[in-house]
Amino acid sequence: MKTDKIRKTFLDFFADKGHEIVPSSSLIPADPTALLTSAGMQQFVPYLSGKIEPPYRRAASAQKCFRTSDIDEVGDQYHHTYFEMLGNWSFGDYFKTEAIQWALELLVKEYKLPQDKLWTTVFKGEKGIPKDIESIETWQEAGIDTKKIKAFGMEDNFWGPVGSGGPCGPCTEIHYDRSKDFQKEKCSLNGCGPNCSCGRFVEVWNLVFMEYNKTREGTYEKLPAQNVDTGAGLERLAAVLQNKSSDYETDLFLPIVNTIKELSQISEKQEDSEKAVRIIADHMRAVCFLIADGVIPSNEDRGYMLRRLMRRAMRYARRLHMGKNFLIPICQVVIDVYKGQYPELQKKQNDILILVQSEEEKFMKSLRDGLKRFRVLVTETKNQDKTVLDPQKTFQLYDTYGFPIELTIEMAQEKGLKVDEKGFEKEFERHRKVSRAGAVHKFSGVGEWGDRVAPQHSATHLLHQALRDVLGEHAHQDGSDLTPERLRFDFTHPKPLTKREIKAIEDLVNKQIKRDLLVTVEKKKFENAIKAGALAFFREKYPKEVTVYTMGDFSKEVCTGPHVKHTNQIGKFKIVKDEALSSGVHRIRAVLTGSTYVPKGITVFDSKL
Ligand code: SER
Repeated sequence: MKTDKIRKTFLDFFADKGHEIVPSSSLIPADPTALLTSAGMQQFVPYLSGKIEPPYRRAASAQKCFRTSDIDEVGDQYHHTYFEMLGNWSFGDYFKTEAIQWALELLVKEYKLPQDKLWTTVFKGEKGIPKDIESIETWQEAGIDTKKIKAFGMEDNFWGPVGSGGPCGPCTEIHYDRSKDFQKEKCSLNGCGPNCSCGRFVEVWNLVFMEYNKTREGTYEKLPAQNVDTGAGLERLAAVLQNKSSDYETDLFLPIVNTIKELSQISEKQEDSEKAVRIIADHMRAVCFLIADGVIPSNEDRGYMLRRLMRRAMRYARRLHMGKNFLIPICQVVIDVYKGQYPELQKKQNDILILVQSEEEKFMKSLRDGLKRFRVLVTETKNQDKTVLDPQKTFQLYDTYGFPIELTIEMAQEKGLKVDEKGFEKEFERHRKVSRAGAVHKFSGVGEWGDRVAPQHSATHLLHQALRDVLGEHAHQDGSDLTPERLRFDFTHPKPLTKREIKAIEDLVNKQIKRDLLVTVEKKKFENAIKAGALAFFREKYPKEVTVYTMGDFSKEVCTGPHVKHTNQIGKFKIVKDEALSSGVHRIRAVLTGSTYVPKGITVFDSKL
């Protein structure tokens, strides 16, 4: 069965069972504390936690996901950075019995997997949470042999929460027995089963019974409702249904893998080059999806992840002796494979190709010199009988040659050496302080500016309204990104801005700042907020009740804040750049000077004391 059919069969099956089919949310999650969307349940967290009344009790989706945690595993048969997850949800509606019976029905009746090849795992009980007897009994009643139902602890059979706290619960997984032919190594049949490392079993579906909330203090309390959250990796399911030994041989990946092989100069199928091909295929697929959802290469957070993927792909491409400009044809195949299901890839084709090409040009120049420098560093370290690379020189590889630190760590490992990560961080900090290079934080992975971006945030509201006043009502927000140093605002507009328009927009924003408009907040039902004329960023999913920020008589917008108290605190607004991102979408970059807003938690010392 082709992958498109597998996806459609899944969604049709659950639509028939009364589920609302919800489109995939963006890879950039609505939750500002999360780096990227890593599970299908993420867009439903407010419903699962009971904070927001769900508009439907049953939902199903095919969700774009990205897991940074799996990057080192990529290259084996089944791990990916970007992948698609099929899932069905119950928000306080059905629970274990239906979830288990339907999963089995879909796998056996629709996908035609032989039932005797299916094994399951259940939660054996731990940390005061009892053994999942109900799941065991349901599997038994459904005809799964008791020998094929294995119980495991928290590590394997308890899922979530995504961050430090939130909805979570015991899970039951369905594994497919691909027979002994797929074993990497011999292992005794007795001990062999799901979670065995021999490679015979592959997990195809995880059913989570979310009835707990993990508090930030680490205790588990019952959620108001019993929910179901399931997830099946589409690529893995495709490999199983197409009887392939890895995801890379399925119809989703084969065109991408073949293009890479054609562009490279590998003749024989060496294991090493196979791994490199897979890494390039995985990473470039992820790159296309990230850019399509608005991520842009940079030195921070998501942009850094994107850059790291591209640079890693380029390093592996060198091993395969691929020539220049090889990333573009790979992206073109990715877009081609996915454009039916994800039209945003084609819509953002220009952005993808332009950004990828410019990154490739930038990095290829320094890669060769950087690798030379790295080899010298390895020789020096070994000659001195050391096993850890000098942190200052490691930093130089990052700073001068653009090597992401993870790349250096990985290359060092291949040579049996280590990187002094603490020393690198210190060097990084020292350099940052010296050069005042701005906030470039590599390790947090999460963009949490808190209310340090309140002035920038308020300025985007004024800008949004000013754009509509000067250019017309068609000008609508299409994304924004804020740091305490600058603001970036994407909006829809068909032609370049003239100098006069830019000046008019700037003047209008500054006029509203000078008027010192009061910023007020109120909670409203979403429909009422829109009726009252509030602007909303329609790509987002809004809860029923929303917060509306009003700035005097000038601006009204649905938003979660933070904002200044009155507009004079914003300071002076200046547009520094206007550029066309793709046809119809523009990006304005602007800076503020002289902001008088004092973020909470920052103490102001009186210099006279
Ligand atoms: N949240 C679970 C997972 O990601 C099931 O959807 O595996």
